[in-house]
Amino acid sequence: MSSSRQRAYFSRRSAFDERLNRVALAIARAHEQRRHYLDLTLSNPTEAQLPYATDAIVESLASRGALSYSPNPFGMLSAREAIAGHFLERGLTISPESLMLTASTSEAYSFLFKLLADPGDDVLVPEPSYPLFEHLAVFESIRLRPYRLAYDGRWHVDLDSVSRAITPETRAIIVVSPNNPTGSYIKRDELDAIAEHGIPIIGDEVFARYSLEDDDARARSVLEARGVLTFALSGLSKVAAMPQMKAAWIAVGGPPADVTSAMTRLELIGDTFLSVSTPIQNALPDLLRHSRATESAIVARSYANMAVARGLFAPPSAASLLHAEGGWYVTVRLPRLISEEEWVISLFEQDGVLVHPGHFFDMHDEAYIVISLLTPETEFAEGMSRIARRVSDLSAP
Ligand SMILES: Cc1ncc(COP(=O)(O)O)c(C=O)c1O
Repeated sequence: MSSSRQRAYFSRRSAFDERLNRVALAIARAHEQRRHYLDLTLSNPTEAQLPYATDAIVESLASRGALSYSPNPFGMLSAREAIAGHFLERGLTISPESLMLTASTSEAYSFLFKLLADPGDDVLVPEPSYPLFEHLAVFESIRLRPYRLAYDGRWHVDLDSVSRAITPETRAIIVVSPNNPTGSYIKRDELDAIAEHGIPIIGDEVFARYSLEDDDARARSVLEARGVLTFALSGLSKVAAMPQMKAAWIAVGGPPADVTSAMTRLELIGDTFLSVSTPIQNALPDLLRHSRATESAIVARSYANMAVARGLFAPPSAASLLHAEGGWYVTVRLPRLISEEEWVISLFEQDGVLVHPGHFFDMHDEAYIVISLLTPETEFAEGMSRIARRVSDLSAP
């Protein structure tokens, strides 16, 4: 099809660069040649050899309730009550009336962008962070404006960069806590300072329960912010390690009159899509209940993998780990003997280890690689040892 025809048919926002980058090409070649590699980017928990309460999960999906349909734009009350219970375990009281179900956290973002922003408006996002924001923003015709997370041995929000990023068109500030991939939680004083701008705060808390250390300075949720509308997002994808179930939620907090108005508008948005299936809503209380063993296994694996990583990348290694407080990722700073892309390509081609480059998450200075803590322990240890050996070979005088 000619490119002029493509322009006639398709929107500008659905256009993207279809060329594969060097890493994607190298992976495609390895698949063609049936070459095995260690995937240290694994993010699909269902492929991570984790324990699941299989029988109980299957049983919870086999309910007769699946045969009737009584749509509710916010989702079934029984599901929302179970989610309120989940918040209570995190020390947060939220009424089921302030909760809304969505099919995924990504859909929750798209609902909130519809609720808060018009095409052309701005939303602030942390940088580095999760690459999907770019697509979510393009599809809603909004503009992203980054604010910085700065690193000085620990990550923190550069509050001046938040103030600088705000424009008269700014409709929301996104906070990811803990953030992907930095693993940093938002601290209470940072949240207070962000709330002072009086702009709605969207908190992505999908990894909240995957903490690698305790810290009293953390905010438990953006719902703790005072005087401003807040939206806390999470879902089964990370909480229960079941992305295939397609169930997530938005908890709305803030001044009561604003919460009421937000819920009224969200009701219409939800009613337009009604996207969460009845069988999953029926099963959700059980799925949450049966997620404990999987969650504990992920936490145990993350601790074990972090211990291996700390051992390998301590001095005298020329590489080091960035401090991670939680989440499913750890970032390694590599000596800039070669570019970040060359590191990722050579680790893949020569050592058979796949890692994410830091620039995938908008880390601007080089060279960083991001590794998934979800990787099964044996593969993680082998893959990280190969990286450590490559670092030591390359940095040898
Ligand atoms: C920070 C963050 N938010 C949201 C998601 C996606 O969640 P969902 O599967 O519910 O759309 C991810 C997935 O990796 C993530 O890292």
